[in-house]
Amino acid sequence: NDTVNLAVIGGDGIGPEVVAEGLKVLETVTANTGTKFQTTEYDLGARRWHATGETLPDSVLEELRGHDAILLGAIGDPTVPSGVLERGVLLPLRFALEQYVNLRPAKLYPGVLSPLAVDRVAPEGIDFVVVREGTEGPYVGNGGSLRTGTPHEIATEVSVNTRFGVERVVRDAFARAQARPRKHLTLVHKHNVLTHAGHLWRRTVEEVAREFPEVTTAYQHVDAATIFLATDPGRFDVIVTDNLFGDIITDIAAAVVGGIGLAASANINPERTAPSMFEPVHGSAPDIAGQAKADPTATILSVGMLLEHLGRTDEASRVERAVAADLATRGSAVRSTPQVGDAIASLL
Ligand code: IPM
Ligand code: MN
Repeated sequence: NDTVNLAVIGGDGIGPEVVAEGLKVLETVTANTGTKFQTTEYDLGARRWHATGETLPDSVLEELRGHDAILLGAIGDPTVPSGVLERGVLLPLRFALEQYVNLRPAKLYPGVLSPLAVDRVAPEGIDFVVVREGTEGPYVGNGGSLRTGTPHEIATEVSVNTRFGVERVVRDAFARAQARPRKHLTLVHKHNVLTHAGHLWRRTVEEVAREFPEVTTAYQHVDAATIFLATDPGRFDVIVTDNLFGDIITDIAAAVVGGIGLAASANINPERTAPSMFEPVHGSAPDIAGQAKADPTATILSVGMLLEHLGRTDEASRVERAVAADLATRGSAVRSTPQVGDAIASLL
């Protein structure tokens, strides 16, 4: 018998609603396995900020460090100035906990309708994973504004790419490609314009490639990659890219495999020096918050990734199979958030 200490951050908008369903599935799948998930809820996001002015107090960050994993719903709310919660809660978690591998699978499950024309979906289907760098790039907040509010305002947002940061995520992506049947890695960047960062990424991929002779590599500029993602996503196996390009292309990727309601993600600290964090790719969707309309599937699939990360591969595949079984018969029926959670839990 062992205990897994799980920190739960419901967050804003639909976050708590989808997280409740993720926990329902987690409880059901781990019942009678000898593993107990001990959950501790953390109140972070808009409510806390309005009440106390706090985003992520140091003491909370330190407590989170003591957990085995974190399950997060969504952070961000229109009642809080843009950026305050994103820069104050979500990004500091990813950065401080060294979650440099932001893993975002894109898989078209049977029964799910892709907006792609039917003849565009490769016979082998769509099954790729984006390894998005999670701690650097334009996300670091290295910038500023001069002459703010004047006609001569200058705003900079410097993308920071370190050899250390690029190399560790590139090596992780190669290892993932190596473990997959197709063993193919695509670097997505924009080295024809972002010549400094682009060349660092390209050189790093070329060098790390020597450690993985079985992995074939390709390169695409991010603009061209969006065309292929929308017309021939079956060609991709593993994509490695920087933080901002990864943010953008994983929304496109989600759209072509059935929508953002199904897109799961993991913010992984591969060295396990701090907990990894699992969250749906979608945001807090304030327009539908509190109405039980949100699809909890992305969170449930993220719980599957959490189980996988913790080495509970059996439970992880049971979760994925239950989701796949539900998706296969889902059709266009309208169900509430808990109804979807119940249906998936009953298929475990
Ligand atoms: C995501 C989100 C976040 C990001 C925002 C909320 C900061 O869009 O997880 O994709 O840009 O990483
Ligand atoms: Mn995003």
